[in-house]
Amino acid sequence: APVPVILSGGAGTRLWPLSRELMPKQLLRLAGGDQTLLQETALRLGTPPVVVCNHEHRFIVAEQLREAGLEARAVLIEPVGRNTAPAAAAAALVLAEQDPDALLLLMPSDHLVRDVAAFRAAVAAAEPLARDGWMVTFGIRPTEPNTGYGYIRAGRPLGAGFVVERFVEKPDLATAEGFVASGDYSWNAGIFLLPARTFLAELERFDPAILAGCRAALAAGHSDLFFFRLDPEAFGALAGRSIDHAVMEPSDRVAVVPVEMGWSDVGSWSALARESVADEAGNVVRGDVLALDSENCYLRGEGPLVAAVGLRDLVVVATDDAVLVADKAADQQVKAVVERLKAAG
Ligand code: GDD
Ligand code: MG
Repeated sequence: APVPVILSGGAGTRLWPLSRELMPKQLLRLAGGDQTLLQETALRLGTPPVVVCNHEHRFIVAEQLREAGLEARAVLIEPVGRNTAPAAAAAALVLAEQDPDALLLLMPSDHLVRDVAAFRAAVAAAEPLARDGWMVTFGIRPTEPNTGYGYIRAGRPLGAGFVVERFVEKPDLATAEGFVASGDYSWNAGIFLLPARTFLAELERFDPAILAGCRAALAAGHSDLFFFRLDPEAFGALAGRSIDHAVMEPSDRVAVVPVEMGWSDVGSWSALARESVADEAGNVVRGDVLALDSENCYLRGEGPLVAAVGLRDLVVVATDDAVLVADKAADQQVKAVVERLKAAG
């Protein structure tokens, strides 16, 4: 069976001020249930996962999995984030050493999937393709020309899916609009079923420096039965690159299995608002909030009381040390706030 590999290295800056470097969104109870996004992800397949995360998060990650009743199979510790290609490569190297035929189910730690049965069915349907050496992506029907996603054009049928004819990571808006209008493209869900063997061979072909760097970082790193620490010098020397750019775009060993599973990348406050249950006025309200004559807002009080009067289409998130007030339509720019704060020290 595939081994779940959860990537838990992102910072989720568009969900500031709740998502912070020390407590990024995947470690938070964001959706309103009892589980954090990381726990929901782990429970989705239900077998002990490998988690790849930053040094700062190793204990909380291990603790959250234990709390969810799923001891981690291993935790791979990155001294610094180098994006998803090195993280996936390190996991593939570790698992391939244990079993050369290993299949990795690589998963982001920060998505919502409403229909877990559909997710599991899609993974099961993809497994024969992966056994045949294909790197399988999962295709989501696009609803808007979102430039934050990868776009997949399916070619000839292959088992439960299709050969990927074209994979375009994060196109510009005009290109994305063309893709969506054509009806020929799906979104890449960011979940991959990877034969370790194919993935490592394709990485060797398209970005050998990442492969060599990860090998070196594992060889010079430290490991006990549970924690694998990647060597800071070797890993830190790598250029950051996503798996989508490094392997999925150039490779011709990629397949896609379409899936409808209530998927959403809860990347921003407005996206989270869309995925949450609203009251009669269309407000999503969390924590200590008093809303009067306000509509279609996301209001969250995680410290001070938030009183909202006569607001429309706004996001208000208050924590003990910061308050965000943003137009829902502009909330992708919250990322820029975090960048400014960082630059200012
Ligand atoms: N361990 C580790 N280290 N994890 C990382 C790192 C890292 O350096 N960088 C990102 N991650 C984790 C994030 O936490 C997230 O769970 C996952 O890897 C994907 O990274 P994102 O940075 O969120 O990628 P994206 O959203 O821009 O794009 C990907 O996902 C889209 C769907 O949501 C791509 O695969 C797109 O093609 C796809 O459409
Ligand atoms: Mg993402």
